[in-house]
Amino acid sequence: MLKGKKILLGITGSIAAYKVISLARELVKKGADVRVVMTPSALSFVTPLTLATITKNPVHSAYIADELTGEWSNHVELGKWADLMVIAPLSANTLAKLVTGECDNLLLAVVLSLSCPLVVAPAMDLDMSDHWTTVGNLKILKDKGVNVLDFDEGELASGLVGKGRMKEPEYILEIVDEFFDLKSNLKGKKLLITAGPTYEAIDPVRFIGNHSLGKMGFAIAAEAVERGAEVVLISGPTQLETPSNLERINITSAAEMFKAVEEHYDSCDSLIMSAAVADYRPAVVAENKLKKEKDSLQSIQMEPTQDILLNCGKNKKRQVLIGFALETENELENAKKKLSNKNLDLLVLNSLRDEGAGFGTDTNRVTFVFPDRTQQNDLKTKHDVAKDILDELEKLV
Ligand SMILES: Cc1cc2nc3c(=O)[nH]c(=O)nc-3n(C[C@H](O)[C@H](O)[C@H](O)COP(=O)(O)O)c2cc1C
Repeated sequence: MLKGKKILLGITGSIAAYKVISLARELVKKGADVRVVMTPSALSFVTPLTLATITKNPVHSAYIADELTGEWSNHVELGKWADLMVIAPLSANTLAKLVTGECDNLLLAVVLSLSCPLVVAPAMDLDMSDHWTTVGNLKILKDKGVNVLDFDEGELASGLVGKGRMKEPEYILEIVDEFFDLKSNLKGKKLLITAGPTYEAIDPVRFIGNHSLGKMGFAIAAEAVERGAEVVLISGPTQLETPSNLERINITSAAEMFKAVEEHYDSCDSLIMSAAVADYRPAVVAENKLKKEKDSLQSIQMEPTQDILLNCGKNKKRQVLIGFALETENELENAKKKLSNKNLDLLVLNSLRDEGAGFGTDTNRVTFVFPDRTQQNDLKTKHDVAKDILDELEKLV
């Protein structure tokens, strides 16, 4: 269930650090990609070698990994990479620093750069856990939205008995499982996602197509699977590899795309139409290859293709409809018209005038157009744009 989940495991200087070796092992066994960040004090309790071997990733404990080569650990990159950070054990010292925003080691810098939720499992001796600073600091973290696990009671390393033990790895594992399980309300929802171009035949050899490679739609499909959705991906011609755990249907023309969408539309909870479907196709497809006989080819008569989104908008029942628009001028005005004409819940607008947006690139800069508001987003990787789109879908379904 944790397959592909990116988990940062922070370890601080507490005797309970030895238990985190088994936590790391279980997370990896469940398919998570685990990276470990340790405070310098934690190095006295468990070795990076053990954790690097278990996680199959280098362990980060210092800003500068190698003075001679200048190799350094990028705290910002780590903070942005993770889907979830777990600090276990959390020492009284690091707890206090988290509250004040101190940043004198790599782990603290990573936390300040985090863009994902944080779970902490404090561990300390009896009097430390009861101290008013600890009690106050834990409350501040909770109030700020950090998931603070309670202390366990029992025998402590000092020999004293009482509150202060770190929650057992099995318990922390359950919390992590629950986090990813509950995270998405797309779990079990059926999503129909279209991607790529369509090719409209002129003759048996030639076609009219467009530059779409399907990257945006494939990124959405992969992310939707991650969130537990049942995905049917209807794809135009593309070289992209099929993301795992979904049903892929290959089509070539707009008419085939229309038919495939129609077949699955009634049973889906949402349609995300990111494919670049042709608006027109040759009215007549030549039976044989057109010969090069004249100086210029006679004109090709075109006829409109069926409008898939318009049709789905008309027949909308419970489905959430998300459309895409690639515009080159009057972007927002055209997008708003499309949103209302086609009865969409969200239109994802990208403009070819924006550098890094549109076809072929790995990045995109989109504006979300809702019936009642618009929201302009930064230039991001298509993977991150896919996450943003599905975050919006989660609110809509
Ligand atoms: C054997 C030993 C066990 C310790 N256990 C704990 C502990 O469970 N909880 C805690 O808050 N501090 C504990 N400490 C103290 C911390 O290691 C110390 O405060 C350190 O500065 C924490 O640094 P860090 O928060 O940067 O990892 C322990 C120290 C030693 C020597």
